[in-house]
Amino acid sequence: MSLTFTPPHHDLTYMAPLSEQRADRLVSFLAAGQPGSVLDIGCGWAALLLRVLEAVPDAVGEGIDLDQEAISHGQSVAVLRGLTDRVDLHVDDARDLAGGWDAVICIGASQVWGAPVEEAQPLPYAAAFAALRALVSPGGRVVYGDGIWSSPPTPAAIAPLAGREDEFRTLGEVVDLAVAAGFAPLAAHEASLDEWDVFESGYAAAYARWLAEHDADDPDVAQVRELADRQRTAYFSGYRGVLGLGYLELLAV
Ligand SMILES: C[S@@+](CC[C@H](N)C(=O)[O-])C[C@H]1O[C@@H](n2cnc3c(N)ncnc32)[C@H](O)[C@@H]1O
Repeated sequence: MSLTFTPPHHDLTYMAPLSEQRADRLVSFLAAGQPGSVLDIGCGWAALLLRVLEAVPDAVGEGIDLDQEAISHGQSVAVLRGLTDRVDLHVDDARDLAGGWDAVICIGASQVWGAPVEEAQPLPYAAAFAALRALVSPGGRVVYGDGIWSSPPTPAAIAPLAGREDEFRTLGEVVDLAVAAGFAPLAAHEASLDEWDVFESGYAAAYARWLAEHDADDPDVAQVRELADRQRTAYFSGYRGVLGLGYLELLAV
């Protein structure tokens, strides 16, 4: 029988290193364009999209993700917040979307336009920016969040990731790729170490809770300890402070 853990939304507000303060800023950026339509690609449980719709009462939104559990959670939050008539959250592959959106969110989901994560390829930033640019008209607003190197990659940092120094680019290089694809960046910033610690802790929490709720002689204890140890070591002895998350507030030009 496969192990079951509490879902990520139990311990995380967003499935990304993103504080409420930074989320406020991203919502304000999108809301300032008074969008009529907002698309969230790889939305997870669509926490940011739902906040944008609350900030822009006339807007309608669509969120797409492959993860049924995350979409179901987002749908139940939309019910609680009275947003069901303005938001469509559904399970689908976001690769082939048509344009015409006023605003688009894409955080941690550029793999939509690249090779499967298991193939350990460099992030497809350029393909993502080209696809995003095709989804909006000039003046359209895009919030893009993606992995970056915060500091030069070390062997210990890349080992638990894709094992290659070219998996990510620096924030400056990613901004250049956005400009080359037809965007003007209004702002670029990156998640703090505190946002990363909160995010990684949120993932580790499910293992900690499982271990606390099961007897020490449960046959699955060793496997769960191993999962927890691997995640903790990958972060604290590996990519902490090296892997970053860059956020770009982009205007289509
Ligand atoms: C790191 S999570 C980010 C979730 C959300 N954007 C957030 O910030 O909370 C990336 C999400 O992209 C989704 N995803 C990956 N490939 C996808 C695809 N081809 N189509 C739709 N969603 C995809 C995953 O299921 C996952 O929920």
